[in-house]
Amino acid sequence: MPWWLIFMIAGLSFGAFLSILLAVLSWLLYPKPLAFTGKHVLVTGGSKGLGLEWAIQSAQDGARCISLIGRDKARLQAATERVRSLAPEAIVSAYSADVSDEEGISQAVAEAEAVGGTIDVLIANAGTLEVSKLESHSPTTARRLLDVNIVGTLNTIQAALPKMKIKDTKPGSDGFRSIVLVGALESFIPSFEHGIYAASKYAVRALAETLHVELGPYPHIRVSLFCPSRAATDLQGVEETSNYSDVMRAGLGKRGAVTYQSPAKAVSEGIKSLKMGRFAITTRYGAYWFRVLGFGAMPQPSLFSVIFEGIFMAVFRILSVIFVVPAWRKGVVKLWKNNGEEMVGLKHSAAPESVV
Ligand SMILES: NC(=O)c1ccc[n+]([C@@H]2O[C@H](COP(=O)([O-])OP(=O)(O)OC[C@H]3O[C@@H](n4cnc5c(N)ncnc54)[C@H](OP(=O)(O)O)[C@@H]3O)[C@@H](O)[C@H]2O)c1
Repeated sequence: MPWWLIFMIAGLSFGAFLSILLAVLSWLLYPKPLAFTGKHVLVTGGSKGLGLEWAIQSAQDGARCISLIGRDKARLQAATERVRSLAPEAIVSAYSADVSDEEGISQAVAEAEAVGGTIDVLIANAGTLEVSKLESHSPTTARRLLDVNIVGTLNTIQAALPKMKIKDTKPGSDGFRSIVLVGALESFIPSFEHGIYAASKYAVRALAETLHVELGPYPHIRVSLFCPSRAATDLQGVEETSNYSDVMRAGLGKRGAVTYQSPAKAVSEGIKSLKMGRFAITTRYGAYWFRVLGFGAMPQPSLFSVIFEGIFMAVFRILSVIFVVPAWRKGVVKLWKNNGEEMVGLKHSAAPESVV
């Protein structure tokens, strides 16, 4: 047998052995799937948009009790009726509170616990967005945004965590609990006119990573960072209609010419990954790219994904400079022109450091 054939067979055999070994190790080390069956799910910002979808889909997936938190009572009432109509078995209740009000949110959580018991799945989803260039961003709205998106998330965690730390040992329960903090793609990359929003979502990512470490002694609680792509909700200035397709394209919303995912699709992707024990969750294939680039030392669900994404990080890094940055720059130049300004030279490139 020629030497090159021996060499090739040996190489292929080694590759096959390594792949099988990795697959088996990943399967053994992969977190057990989380089930919603019988669980109490609390969603802040649960009265519309993505939060309402989390409520509906958790209830349809067998959650025993759904608690919604938001500020507007009429909207909460309508959301409660919608969830009840789609999942008649679930106990659904709503509590009016502003997440940035520490006492208000802790009282709402206590009332929810009195009705549905300890919270098993906490979705800290309430958030707000202000689209403005940094040079003209109002400090008052910036402060408010940071207060809702960062301090509101912190208040929500603090209100629910003490009881969640006690493991559920009731027969029939898998014992798992989950805390989902809602970031955005802006948890990984900044975006034109989204500077303060991105600052808040980078911070939410930091909260999730820190919480993951701090909850080390409580392995029954999983922490996830849900980072949906643009979804067609009020937040994006997209009118909610009953028949939008999964991904909408067109000059809708505040940003125009952006594609939007339907909230239902975004959340169903989120729930799928949450059940698999993922830490960082994105909802569209294109977003995976940014997630991998921004991973740093983020927790990983399996050895396989550490190796796979580790290799891709290097590849994506190089490809991003060739493809993503120029595309990004083209988009920003267009936006700049729309604002009546010319972008001159690379010095003014709005391409973010993280993808350069
Ligand atoms: N839509 C997207 O494209 C997108 C993409 C990435 C990330 N996200 C994130 O996903 C989350 C939900 O966004 P969405 O698009 O579903 O927004 P949305 O349609 O505007 O809904 C926001 C929800 O949060 C509640 N809320 C807002 N401020 C609150 C406060 N201070 N206290 C309590 N509840 C409050 C709202 O009810 P009330 O006004 O009645 O309080 C509503 O239920 C946000 O954290 C957002 O940053 C959204």
